[in-house]
Amino acid sequence: MTAVDLQELTAMALEEIARADSLDRLDEVRLRYLGRRDGLVTLAGQRLRELAPEQRAAFGQEFNRASGQLRSALETRQRELASGEAQLREDAEWVDMSHPFREADQGHSHPVTGLIREIEDIFAFLGYQSVGGPELEDDQHNFQLLNMPPEHPARDSHDTFYLSPPAGGWLYRTHTSPVQMRAMLGSPPPLRIIVPGKVARRDNPDPTHTPVFHQVEGLCVDHGVTLGDLKGTLEYAIRALFGRDRRVRLRASFFPYTEPSLEADVACAVCQGAGCRTCLQKGWIEILGSGMVHPQVLRNGGVDPETYSGFAFGMGPDRIAVLRYGLTDLRDLYENDLRLLECF
Ligand code: DAH
Repeated sequence: MTAVDLQELTAMALEEIARADSLDRLDEVRLRYLGRRDGLVTLAGQRLRELAPEQRAAFGQEFNRASGQLRSALETRQRELASGEAQLREDAEWVDMSHPFREADQGHSHPVTGLIREIEDIFAFLGYQSVGGPELEDDQHNFQLLNMPPEHPARDSHDTFYLSPPAGGWLYRTHTSPVQMRAMLGSPPPLRIIVPGKVARRDNPDPTHTPVFHQVEGLCVDHGVTLGDLKGTLEYAIRALFGRDRRVRLRASFFPYTEPSLEADVACAVCQGAGCRTCLQKGWIEILGSGMVHPQVLRNGGVDPETYSGFAFGMGPDRIAVLRYGLTDLRDLYENDLRLLECF
């Protein structure tokens, strides 16, 4: 190794320093030439001892000059690269504080939930308290106490999801009426309650049926409650829900737990009573069943029918939602299509 070799090595190193395009690359170059143990320039310096005495001075000078030059070149390039990288980082992380916010989407309650709250409000105004009850019921409360013993034909209309062998066992409640029994057995009259909740029946889905649906049960038990009170209450509630102009009809019906029994129909919103797919060509859609609580049912609930009387009703908020919002199919409410749900 001579002073000339050292100059060549330095020239190569300077070129690599100039070409290094990142701090990491630059560090590699530094190690290759000036690394403490095996840097090429470092190793060259160690050759000093091997040289003839007359060559040593020139080589030593060249070595000092070369390593000084490399160090300052490294330092300069390092500064350049550091400021470039900082600039890049700054560019990448820059946030435009004046950019307007994108409005976050806000959720809201489901239209049926909204309707149930509305029904609760309407009845709260009439002095009714909203209560809950179990979705898994026993046969006793769901059927027997409501005048439907095991072989009763009315059970056929409640195609039941049983959790254990039929009769005497557990089931998914087919209506909210068992909560009437729980309320009567739980506290003495006067009683004014409404019971919103989910019920289930083994129905095939169609425009007016889904296997799980909602009901709102109502029960009023007091001294001297009459059929007139029932009619007045239903008319008031139906007007509050549908407006004064919607046509409503009450017609005689049958339920084992009421005597007499009534059903309320509302004119179909789609065809205005002419008959269409939504109302299954009837022109009317049934929204509730009701009646004067059967004396035996009062007795089953521990209430003396000689002293008290009462009325009860059960309505279907899903169907009411269909009517209110002019939908054509109950199932649309549960398909979770946000384009529809966001309309409410
Ligand atoms: N439980 C009946 C049903 O599911 C609805 C009903 C009818 C409830 C008459 C009542 C009632 O409280 O008195 O179809």
